[in-house]
Amino acid sequence: MFSKVRYLLALTRLSRWVIVVVLSLIVSGLEAIGAALVLFLLRMISDPENGMTLPVIGDLRSLGSEMSDRTLTLVILGSIGLFFLIRALAKILQTYVQQRVIQQAGLRLSTKLVEGYLRMPYVWQLKRNSAELIRNAHQAVNRLVTQVFQPSVSLVSQSMLLLMLLAVLILASPLATALAIAIIGPTVYLLTKSVQPSMKRLGRVAHVTVRNYFAVLQESLTGIRDVKLLGRIRYFARRFSSERAAYAKANYLQRTMAQVPSVLMEFSLLLFILVFFAMTVTRGGSVTDALPVLGLFAYAGLRLQPSLQTIIQAVTNLKFASAPVDDLYADLTELESSGTTKHSKSPDPLPFEQEIRIDSVSFTYDGSPEAALTGVNLSIARGESVGICGPTGGGKSTFVDLLVGLLQPTSGEIRIDGAQLTDSTEAWQANLGVVSQIVFLLDDTLRRNVAFGMPDDGINDARVREVIALAQLADFVDSLPDGLETRIGERGTRLSGGQRQRVAIARALYRDPAVLIFDEGTSALDSITEAELIGTLERLSSDRTVITIAHRLTTIKNADRIVVIEGGKITGMGTFAELARKHPFLLEANP
Ligand SMILES: Nc1ncnc2c1ncn2[C@@H]1O[C@H](COP(=O)(O)OP(=O)(O)OP(=O)(O)O)[C@@H](O)[C@H]1O
Ligand SMILES: [Mg+2]
Repeated sequence: MFSKVRYLLALTRLSRWVIVVVLSLIVSGLEAIGAALVLFLLRMISDPENGMTLPVIGDLRSLGSEMSDRTLTLVILGSIGLFFLIRALAKILQTYVQQRVIQQAGLRLSTKLVEGYLRMPYVWQLKRNSAELIRNAHQAVNRLVTQVFQPSVSLVSQSMLLLMLLAVLILASPLATALAIAIIGPTVYLLTKSVQPSMKRLGRVAHVTVRNYFAVLQESLTGIRDVKLLGRIRYFARRFSSERAAYAKANYLQRTMAQVPSVLMEFSLLLFILVFFAMTVTRGGSVTDALPVLGLFAYAGLRLQPSLQTIIQAVTNLKFASAPVDDLYADLTELESSGTTKHSKSPDPLPFEQEIRIDSVSFTYDGSPEAALTGVNLSIARGESVGICGPTGGGKSTFVDLLVGLLQPTSGEIRIDGAQLTDSTEAWQANLGVVSQIVFLLDDTLRRNVAFGMPDDGINDARVREVIALAQLADFVDSLPDGLETRIGERGTRLSGGQRQRVAIARALYRDPAVLIFDEGTSALDSITEAELIGTLERLSSDRTVITIAHRLTTIKNADRIVVIEGGKITGMGTFAELARKHPFLLEANP
């Protein structure tokens, strides 16, 4: 646990933590001096004659010999007031610096996580649940901040304070202090140790249940149409509630148990005072003789109590947070070792003049018993238009994902003008315009959806209008009062299916890509619009490579070449007329 926390801390700015520790050292020193001053003040009040004599320094009156006792007292009181004012200001400054450093550490870690998660290979994201990634980047980092970083700082500063207060107490009365340590020390240690295993378990429960209720929330909101139409609101609300209840329980149990050690410690201290008192009485001793010792214990207990309580709570918090620490450590080490947390500029497009060569490519999804593609060979020349068809589950989308570099072949290779695709995936992707089978839209304006992920000042409005027209959206956009500034709702809920697809097409066209890929990218359009669109694209695309996957053979009728993918293999290739002769079922299955 300690080495993991150290690793996580090292990912933040270490020099700032040094400042935090130094500041808390200074404030602890001021606190201890403050306690000594209070003691001194009390002595001055109760015993004006000898009260002005300090250990080490001696009698204060000899220092300010010209002053009368009265002036000296006033000067001393004024200095004490000034000192406490400085102490108060120092404490505020310390809190500000400490909180700032802690929060910025959280900011750095969660940004690192988010960027790393996004950069990881697509196969990695396919394996991970998004609710888990959201939980880690959001709530787990918050827990790391509030239950690990913050308590660690308190642990350091309060331990320093404790040691300094003890020093003051030892100076005042060594014997009583030793007694207090002998009683409080073991009590604190045993109690803290005894709650730790439950802390760890509850911490894991809180960690897992958050992921689960995030997942239920996300799924039910994304699938709201099905949830309503199938009448499953209660089911999802209940599933959410049961996870949320487990989370709530883990938290209230944790908070209760975290209090146990300090509350019991207080109790044992009180018990000690009562027993001591009782013993004095039964022995027939005088109560006034026992008073100074009792008073000191009460004072020591009172003064040490808050620091001790903070220390105990810090230790229990650290245990409670071991689950998020484990997970964040695992993820961050994985992201760091794959180099995904490094910033990199978007590369220039990979030169593509001749051909894409797919050479005996096979691909098997992780954990899947069967290969989705086996031994696929194909070369696509620049400027060619290729249609791909075949039965559902045949491997068409998998083929596209390999071609665009989202997936890497399990065996075989893909070369672009002879260059390995795996070596320059991002540079290759800069050539592509892809309309995927499942369209994704942002809850933002049409303009930003077309330019997707471009900063506003980088958006070329003329180009946006151009591609809107190409995607046959111009009439629709003109009919909107806000035009391109119209917000289209989360995942484009305010658009029709066909309109959504056209936005995706406009987006694919926006950067004028050398290669256009439609994975069922026109399937939501009526056949007249589809024919018009394909016609326009073909006219525009003399130099463009177009790869179209379609269930409707008519869509790819005019393609230079049609490839049939079935059961993960290429089972046919040729023009529409040739294929219609050889595979008449294609015509039947896809009228
Ligand atoms: N992430 C995944 N993990 C495991 N198996 C997958 C995954 N995605 C797809 N598959 C499997 O790979 C096979 C090919 O799927 P693919 O999506 O490539 O088919 P397709 O030809 O595009 O089908 P459709 O015409 O229905 O879009 C299918 O058997 C599918 O179950
Ligand atoms: Mg598909």
